[in-house]
Parts: sequence; structure tokens; C-alpha cells
Amino acid sequence: EKGTYPHYMLKEIDEQPFVIRNIITKYKNENDTIKLDENIRQAVLDSDRVYIIAAGTSYHAGLVGKQLIEKIANKPVETHIASEFLYNMPLLSEKPLFIFISQSGETADSRGVLVEIKKLGHKSLTITNVPGSTLSREADYTLHTYAGPEIAVASTKAYTAQMAVLAILAVDTARAAGIQMDFDPLQELAIVANAMETLADRKEELEQIARDYMSVTRNCFFIGRAMDYHVCLEGALKLKEISYIQAEGFAGGELKHGTIALIEEGTPVIGLATQEHVNLSIRGNIKEVVARGAYPCVISMEGMEEEEDTLVIPHVHEYLTPLVSVLPLQIISYYAALHRGCDVDKPRNLAKSVTVE
Ligand code: F6R
Repeated sequence: EKGTYPHYMLKEIDEQPFVIRNIITKYKNENDTIKLDENIRQAVLDSDRVYIIAAGTSYHAGLVGKQLIEKIANKPVETHIASEFLYNMPLLSEKPLFIFISQSGETADSRGVLVEIKKLGHKSLTITNVPGSTLSREADYTLHTYAGPEIAVASTKAYTAQMAVLAILAVDTARAAGIQMDFDPLQELAIVANAMETLADRKEELEQIARDYMSVTRNCFFIGRAMDYHVCLEGALKLKEISYIQAEGFAGGELKHGTIALIEEGTPVIGLATQEHVNLSIRGNIKEVVARGAYPCVISMEGMEEEEDTLVIPHVHEYLTPLVSVLPLQIISYYAALHRGCDVDKPRNLAKSVTVE
């Protein structure tokens, strides 16, 4: 039930700190180590390459998941859009593990891939919010995202929960493989939960940003580099699906290869700057769009903020910035849709779970 909330989406955005804390509890042993099914640990360890298959927002979580598993566990990962995978099937490695990411566990495009890879005899793991769902039952293993029912069509808490579980899986794999590291996902996720709470408390400010930038615009662009780029894709999807503003996420470095032609006087451009190693470059890209008339909204992170930034998110571990930087984008999208008179929880033409291919 949505209780005192006007919409499920806003309630689900606010639930994110609790979801992350819940995930920490569910994946923690008494001695503070990661609790994970031994068979899943072994399946990941045994594989020589991971293929992540998903759609929409879950695909965006999968893009971040690839970074996490490769950087933390040193295992090659490819992330694929479910609906395209079978047409453009890559040459598979010798011992692939397929990871399906799906909030509902019912997405037909993902199931189509699962059916085919099972015929080939490959192992599969579903990361889902609905254990007992089709993708969960038909895969060899399931990891639960424990986000609680997600009712709003636009996915919010499922996305951050998926990335949290992927970070835990990556570290568990690394430890099982004997890789030394000082990144403790359970501790760092607790910091993420606090940061999410701080941002959820800043709704008035974010509502004002939505009013300033999104009230009348026809389009809006999101730019970022490295993991920020993946969050830009998600921010753009959120905005377009509920507010119907044409929104696109671009990699900062791609602007000069064509997309900068879209920038006109007053075009809103949301720039994400939470990735230290690319900070100078994204700052340069923001200057380039401003020089062409863009109306910039820069969201940076403590430690790399500049005076003119619109919003500064609390500092979190570099592997986990997407879980926090997406919050303001979700909230801005919510208010953009609300102010434009859109049906936030049930956007036109969309269904919560897409059970047709
Ligand atoms: C976007 C959204 C969709 C879903 C996609 C996959 O807000 O909700 O893009 O993410 O349809 O759905 P699941 O995760 O249920 O497989």
C-alpha cells in the first residue's frame, strides 16, 4: 500500500535506504562475512566468462555489474540486451555463466535467451526481486534482491538493489578466488544507505530543479563518463518513460562525434561528475555544451565538487556511486512528470512486466 504517499514511485524511491540495509542483513553472516549459497559461489568461480542478459533498467544495472565483476573479481563479463542477444549471439567462451537480471522475473525477452542457452547446456543464475518467478524457476540458481514489491511501472528500488547484489556477488567471487582487496561491500553499502537518505530528504530542492529545467523543455540530455555514463542511460530512461520528455544519455567523449549538434540555446543538460579519474574530462565536456547554449545541471560528489555545481551528493565508494547518483535523477524525473500532469505510476503505453517478445 502506498500509505500517505501520492504515488508508488515516490514511496519506492524513499524505500531505497531500507532496501539496501535489508540486503546487507540478508547477505551477512554472524561474523560479518558475505553469506552466499556455496553452489552459486562455485558456479561463478568455475565460469571463464559471465554473460549478463537483461532489459531496460535491469540492463542498465547489468552495465554497472560488468564493471564491478571485472574490476573486483577480475572475471570477463559481457552485458547484453535480452531482445538482441539471440540475433547477435557472440561466440561463447568454453565455460560461460549466464546471469539474468530481472525485477519481475517474467520478462519474455530474457526468458527467450534462457530457454536457448539451456538447450546448449549452459549454467544460469537469475538475480530477481520475485523468487518463484519464471526466470527464477527455470534458471539453475537465484539471488534475491529483497527490494519488496515494486508497483510503479518505472523501476527505482529494484535497480539499486540489483547493483547492490551484484557488488556483493563480485566481492564474494573475488574472495573465493583469493584476490586481496580492501573493499568491504557490506560496510560500504551501509554508507550508501545513509547517503540515499540524505538525498531523499532533499526533495524540495530536487523538485525546484525539475521545475527549472523540465517544465517546458521538449528534450533533455544526460552526459557522463565511466560508470556515470551508465547512470546517464538510466536517468534518461526514467525521465522519458514517465514525463515523455525526449531524453538521451551520452558518453561525454561522444559528444564531439555528433550529438553535440543537438545542443541549442537553453537545452537542459544534466552532467554527472562522480568519477574522480575522469573528472577533468567530463568538466571539459560540460564547458563545451555550455559554450553552445546548454542549460547545465551538474551533479557531482563530495571531494570533486565545484562552486557552480547544482547538487553535490555525499561521498561513497567509487564502485557504488551509481546507487547514489541515480537518486536525484529518479526524484527529478518524478517531479518533472508530476508537474507536466503525467500519470507517474502508470505511464502511457507501458506495462510493469513485459511478458511478450
Ligand atoms: C524501466 C522499466 C523497464 C524494466 C524492463 C525489465 O523503468 O521498468 O525498463 O526495467 O522492462 O523488466 P524486468 O527487470 O522485470 O525484467
